[in-house]
Amino acid sequence: MDLKGCIFDLDGVIVDTAKYHFLAWKRLADEMGFDFTEHDNEALKGVSRMASLEILLHVGGVKKAEDEKIELATIKNNWYVEYISHMTPEEILPGSLELLRSLRSEGILTAIGSASRNAGMILDGIKLRDMFDAIVDGNKIHTAKPDPEVFLKGAEEMRLAPENCIVFEDARAGIEAAIAAGMRCVGIGKPDTLARASIVVPDLRQITIQQLRNL
Ligand code: BG6
Ligand code: MG
Repeated sequence: MDLKGCIFDLDGVIVDTAKYHFLAWKRLADEMGFDFTEHDNEALKGVSRMASLEILLHVGGVKKAEDEKIELATIKNNWYVEYISHMTPEEILPGSLELLRSLRSEGILTAIGSASRNAGMILDGIKLRDMFDAIVDGNKIHTAKPDPEVFLKGAEEMRLAPENCIVFEDARAGIEAAIAAGMRCVGIGKPDTLARASIVVPDLRQITIQQLRNL
């Protein structure tokens, strides 16, 4: 392919924030009096904040009114923001920085395509904002993954056609979003959950630009 741009999901690709999301959701479940496990947390990866709350309430068998749901999501987010406010560049996942540098040195543009409304704060904490030509996060989009909006907007902000872009994703909803956007996709994680990706690798250390161009 004629590779001109790479769009990276943030949570689970560049940094492991799932552990902080888990801590905050578990704390909320504890307060409501039910158990929430790391296994349950898997279903929240790549899913928007309100959709995550719905899954959590379903796990606990709890029903809440709309205004209470907004309140609960706000409480969880305040805890989450407190956890991520301590993030440093040491939390950048292995291979990310090296890949970003080599892409940019070859003139390939880079973008963030994240569902999170906290993406800006995380990028500042890990000091990686300067490595991206475009940052599209949950504050800029209306429809969550698997809708392609976040990746199409990323391509648009880089002024590139979707067919010249590759997405890096760790969540199934994100892979579906990339496919719907007409983009090739590198799955980060396990092949069984990410089967629809163009290729699947355990982390960004395994990727070369030649491999990407051959997709
Ligand atoms: C995604 C995470 O990147 O962002 C999800 O994988 C999270 O777990 C979603 O729910 C929304 O994040 P935030 O920071 O806006 O609550
Ligand atoms: Mg992710």
